[in-house]
Amino acid sequence: MDLQLEGKSVLVTGAGRGIGRSIAMAFAQEGANIVVNDTNLEGAEETANLVSNKGVRALPIVCDISSLSSVLEMSKKVFAEFKSIEVLVNNAAVRKMHTFFIDTDPLDCELEFRVAVFGTMNCCRIFLPSMIQNSFGKIINIGTDAARVGQERECNYSAAKGAILSFTKSLAKEVGRNNINVNAVSPGATNAPMRQERIELLKQQIGEEKVAEREEKVKKMYALRRIGEPEDVANTVVYLASEPARHITGQILSVNGGYAMVG
Ligand SMILES: NC(=O)c1ccc[n+]([C@@H]2O[C@H](COP(=O)([O-])OP(=O)(O)OC[C@H]3O[C@@H](n4cnc5c(N)ncnc54)[C@H](O)[C@@H]3O)[C@@H](O)[C@H]2O)c1
Repeated sequence: MDLQLEGKSVLVTGAGRGIGRSIAMAFAQEGANIVVNDTNLEGAEETANLVSNKGVRALPIVCDISSLSSVLEMSKKVFAEFKSIEVLVNNAAVRKMHTFFIDTDPLDCELEFRVAVFGTMNCCRIFLPSMIQNSFGKIINIGTDAARVGQERECNYSAAKGAILSFTKSLAKEVGRNNINVNAVSPGATNAPMRQERIELLKQQIGEEKVAEREEKVKKMYALRRIGEPEDVANTVVYLASEPARHITGQILSVNGGYAMVG
């Protein structure tokens, strides 16, 4: 299958590590040039080096996507280097506290919304006009199954991600006429730093043995009996951005080993 991504320009937010880095690498593998966004300079540069090693162009840009003016500044750097952005992957998010809603800090909640929801909207707001002008674009937003089926101790984070899923569908209806596809990929538990950090914290709280038992129980909740890898998410994102997926828009595609099967 020819994905027709060679030479395309792809912007991946939060690509300094984890799933975002894997997404950047998967597009680079297909010959696409990558804008590597992150708030972490070291991570962004590391990803950019890995991408360049694949023989494509990489542009690392440090930018906090929760600020509209910063995203505007980022776009100036992007358009100085690449004439257009064909693919936008809104991946960056933060997950602050793993606790019951009533015990969460409203400031943490605000941050989770600012990065996930407003970050995604800011990037769409700034990069959509050129996609509309070119009558071509692919936007892939990263959600979570915690938003699709609910998850205790994740009220704020899952609510923010729920907003992204709704935004995906409504935006897809608006820009379909401009030949722009908007979809969301909804990962289940994935072996990336966000999850690994939570597991390390749990080990300190309840001990290694209990965490190991808990992990076995978690795996049993997945039909495929495995936790996802960042590449599982990345490959799905690449497919949705490809020409063979041109008739798919407004969809939420779970990549979750059969954890939740949402009709
Ligand atoms: N890991 C999982 O189990 C899992 C499950 C479901 C969904 N997801 C989603 O997948 C995506 C990636 O997750 P991950 O595990 O790789 O997370 P991660 O924490 O490892 O990576 C997120 C990256 O985003 C960057 N970032 C944070 N705030 C930013 C901002 N304001 N502007 C720009 N960059 C910013 C961080 O520096 C980091 O490099 C997230 O949207 C997350 O919600 C992850």
